[in-house]
Amino acid sequence: MGKEQEFSANKQEWENAVKKTVQRYPERQKVFETSSGIPIDLLYAPKHPQEEYQETQGFPGQYPYTRGIQPTMYRSKYWTMRQYAGFGSARETNQRFRYLLEQGQTGLSVAFDLPTQIGYDSDDSMADGEVGKVGVAIDSLHDMETLFDSIPLEKVSTSMTINAPASILLCMYIAVGEKQGVEPARLTGTIQNDILKEYIARGTYIFPPKPSMRLITDIFAYCQEELPRFNTISISGYHIREAGSTAVQEIAFTLANGIAYVDAALASGLDIDQFAPRLAFFFNAHNQFFEEVAKFRAARRIWSKIMKDRFHAKEPKSWKLRFHTQTGGSTLTAQQANNNIVRVALQALSAVLGGTQSLHTNSRDEALSLPTEESARIALRTQQIIANESGAADTIDPLGGSYYVESLTDEIASRAWKYIEKIDGLGGAVQAVEAGYMQREIRQAAYETQMKIESGEEIVIGLNKFVEEEQQLPDLLKVDEELEANQRKAVQQVRIERDATEADRCLNKLEAAAADPGINLMPYILQAVKAYCTIGEICNTLRKEFGEYNGI
Ligand code: 3HC
Repeated sequence: MGKEQEFSANKQEWENAVKKTVQRYPERQKVFETSSGIPIDLLYAPKHPQEEYQETQGFPGQYPYTRGIQPTMYRSKYWTMRQYAGFGSARETNQRFRYLLEQGQTGLSVAFDLPTQIGYDSDDSMADGEVGKVGVAIDSLHDMETLFDSIPLEKVSTSMTINAPASILLCMYIAVGEKQGVEPARLTGTIQNDILKEYIARGTYIFPPKPSMRLITDIFAYCQEELPRFNTISISGYHIREAGSTAVQEIAFTLANGIAYVDAALASGLDIDQFAPRLAFFFNAHNQFFEEVAKFRAARRIWSKIMKDRFHAKEPKSWKLRFHTQTGGSTLTAQQANNNIVRVALQALSAVLGGTQSLHTNSRDEALSLPTEESARIALRTQQIIANESGAADTIDPLGGSYYVESLTDEIASRAWKYIEKIDGLGGAVQAVEAGYMQREIRQAAYETQMKIESGEEIVIGLNKFVEEEQQLPDLLKVDEELEANQRKAVQQVRIERDATEADRCLNKLEAAAADPGINLMPYILQAVKAYCTIGEICNTLRKEFGEYNGI
């Protein structure tokens, strides 16, 4: 087939996909036009095949997905406005969730405190001073029931930023759903469940790589059968970037981690076209607006090629890179905090023009504390203004075809491939992490950036240029000082009130199952959470079998 015919055939295929999509996801408006009454087309593309249009860009919803994963993108449905939230007690966070939903956010995203994330109960000495500080304190199913009180789980999708104990929190979510009368198969959401980036950049790991990968693929296998609508992992570049990586490293290391998870799932006997459609990603939206837009487009192109050519996935759903974006926390300044509203708006716009499926916008005060309600509201309104006022969502991939953006997309992809090949040469991401390769690359990049900021070569308004002596600090969120004591009492009360024999029985069964790597631990963990065993008890049971990882 000649270039002209191939181009026309692909265009026809896209038009047919649009017709099919709008049956279920009709376009948001009857008419899309500019303020001057100029009609806005669904898509702008070359009239005739240009260079390698199909190989490098293609039509939206078509391999290699550079222009977006859906045939109609935001013309049918905006990205999910999903604000990361959580602090203090389950009650306080439940109130913030309900507030944000009332203010128009369209998905939930749970921030857990550090004791929860690294598997300690609030009354463990390891939790001293951290209970409810950087996220919500969850000790048992009792707290999880409170966290989702009056929130209908069959109507809202929930992301949970939890990694080492991901299986425990997922089981708690399943149990809450059952108590609400929602069977597991109807639950939607995402569990972050990405341990490699914890070793590389974020640090909330518990167990060594091998048992950690087992827990991760146990979730893949279990969800395939029981929670088919739940995204089983959010392979994250966000924290890699926050640790100081470049944009190229962010997507290269993330996709290399993705390859390692696919390898692990295949090695555990899973079928690629069964589990791959529920893999998801999570990226940063940083400064350098056009580079960020190009980065997202390049990531989709690379991942689709990896899934199609390297892993021979047959289903297009397996080739699509679906991602959430959070604006760059590390770009926020404590100085002149209101300037952060502008930074976040530009970063959020880059994510939208880059085709994100879900978005969190940071609050202006987050360089200083967790966000106040007012700051969180301004952050959400930022998304709502971009969606409803800017026109950025009114045609697909509006920067597609730009000489600059396409050139950047190609160059970022080319450099990212080189990193992926290097990591392949080291034996893959797990081996590269254990060798400290990615960590060293990130540290070097972080150092170079810091030097540029300190020398003034890289300008940060309010920090090294247009500095103001007097700082007007905004009101900051205060976490209840009594919280830690109250949370400790609450978890001790749960242990008193539960059926102690049943709890012990469940923990003993879990310990025995953990000793056999051929056993999927999810059903055992589910029984334990339903018996009100606590996160600390379950993790300590697993620690007995798996040991703890002391890092690189
Ligand atoms: N045409 C057709 N279908 C469409 C459509 C369109 N235009 N738009 C949406 N849809 C469909 C989708 O196909 C999907 O249907 P499916 O479930 O049957 O496939 C449904 O509508 C929902 O759409 P999405 O899946 O695109 O949107 P979600 O918001 O549900 O999911 C995701 C997005 C990226 C796949 C998911 O993994 C997600 O929500 N991730 C969020 C992760 C997150 O919030 N992480 C926060 C981490 S915070 C952190 O770690 C930082 C801290 O440490 C500082």
